[in-house]
Amino acid sequence: MQNTLAETLLHKFNVFTQEVQLAAEQLSGTIPILLHNLSHVDQDIEAALRLERTDNQRLALTAIEERLEELLNELMWNTDPDNVQFKSPVIECLEFISAYKKHLTYQSELQQEIPNPYITGIPLDDKQPIFVGRQEFSAKLEQLLVSPRCPPLLLYGQRRMGKTSLLYNLSRLLPSTIIPLFVDLQGPAGLAIDHVGFLYNLSRAMSLSAKLRCQLELPPLTRQELQADPFACFDEWLTEIEQTWPDTIILLILDEFINLEDAFDSGRLNEQWVLSLLRHQIQHRPRLKILLAGSHAFEELQRWSSYLVNVHTLHIGYLSESEARQLIEKPVNNFPLRYTPAACERVLQLTHCHPALVQLLCAEIVELKNTQVAEQRRLAQIEEVEAAIPRCLEGVKFYFSDILHNQLNHWDRQILKFLALQGEGKIVKLTTLAHYARSKGQDLEALKASIDHLLRRELIEIIEQGYRFQIELMRRWLLQ
Ligand SMILES: Nc1ncnc2c1ncn2[C@@H]1O[C@H](COP(=O)(O)OP(=O)(O)OP(=O)(O)O)[C@@H](O)[C@H]1O
Ligand SMILES: [Mg+2]
Repeated sequence: MQNTLAETLLHKFNVFTQEVQLAAEQLSGTIPILLHNLSHVDQDIEAALRLERTDNQRLALTAIEERLEELLNELMWNTDPDNVQFKSPVIECLEFISAYKKHLTYQSELQQEIPNPYITGIPLDDKQPIFVGRQEFSAKLEQLLVSPRCPPLLLYGQRRMGKTSLLYNLSRLLPSTIIPLFVDLQGPAGLAIDHVGFLYNLSRAMSLSAKLRCQLELPPLTRQELQADPFACFDEWLTEIEQTWPDTIILLILDEFINLEDAFDSGRLNEQWVLSLLRHQIQHRPRLKILLAGSHAFEELQRWSSYLVNVHTLHIGYLSESEARQLIEKPVNNFPLRYTPAACERVLQLTHCHPALVQLLCAEIVELKNTQVAEQRRLAQIEEVEAAIPRCLEGVKFYFSDILHNQLNHWDRQILKFLALQGEGKIVKLTTLAHYARSKGQDLEALKASIDHLLRRELIEIIEQGYRFQIELMRRWLLQ
């Protein structure tokens, strides 16, 4: 963040943040509530400017821009007299961000850099052209949703396999007669301290999703309305929605639904009431469908299965080879970087077509190419793919270590490491694994349980009556 333009931008937001914080202390009414979301926006700007890649800076600034635009929109409609003093500062802040983004674009054009189109670390929304594939999945989902007996659905996939990105993109992939309403239960709804807070934030997330992705305005629902009889009031609100769009299917999506377990365990929400509410909708509203999403299989979740019977699981896994190729070779139109066939093949082998890993590795390849002289920059060779691996492994360490330490037990880890030690693509027979397990004091039953678990987590696969590692990048990381 050496340039003065960045300093000016930051200064502007420091001043704006002070105004917002002052408003929170001194004003009453609705304005402090509207501004709450921006009470530390200067820190977000600072974090954005510290990002190493200019395209990531641009992305982070766009996210802040969207929050400011949303605020401006709310201020325009708000009748509180205090709103006047905030409109111009918000517009000015937006202008500053826009100017800085133009500067970033100019800088990369000046250096003839390959623009890095890859998006890592955040789910892809429906405006990002780099989302590939998943048409087969959406066709299957559509078929289920239109059938009169559609059971509750569970979208099940491993971490970072693209669940949220797919859910964000459903409004684009499904016909407009299906209205997907996306709720992230890691957000305010899942964190609510009581039922009014939960239902209010649930309704807000549904409304925001309808507005952002379907350009639909759901009827309003306020906290005050919910106070007296929250569940009945929420139920009436759903009826109102159904009546407003009579010929549609409303798909309520609860991403990371597992977060409700914490709310149940800590007593913030009553398990029976909340799950009964869901069951009631399933039984009595044929046009409202429920889709839960997460990385837990339904069999693992006893408390849910007694309320939601007959759940149908939809699995989301690795990309197909052709989808992964598209992500590598043509992530966006007019992508200037070409790959030799061997280089492209190597990316496929290293990532096993895992969407997040393809994006991470390709992002590093672009970064590496941008350090080269202009004449070499536009063709990626296999050696460069290999050279990008160490930085890619740096980027995936939290993801891999989460799998290793939070999803696997001691024995699973031992078996996985043993498989990793055998080398790239090596197939290991059950007898060899049994021999190794015995030497470590693990009996055959425990070994089979570990293998089962590793297969379910899609970390190993069965090949010619043996087992092998699926993701070469992960194997390399384990050996570090
Ligand atoms: N269809 C896709 N096309 C291209 N890239 C994708 C696709 N799906 C996912 N990705 C990549 O994978 C990353 C992870 O995606 P996402 O956050 O949607 O996964 P997730 O399964 O919801 O993860 P988590 O379990 O951590 O919530 C994205 O940031 C993006 O880089
Ligand atoms: Mg997710």
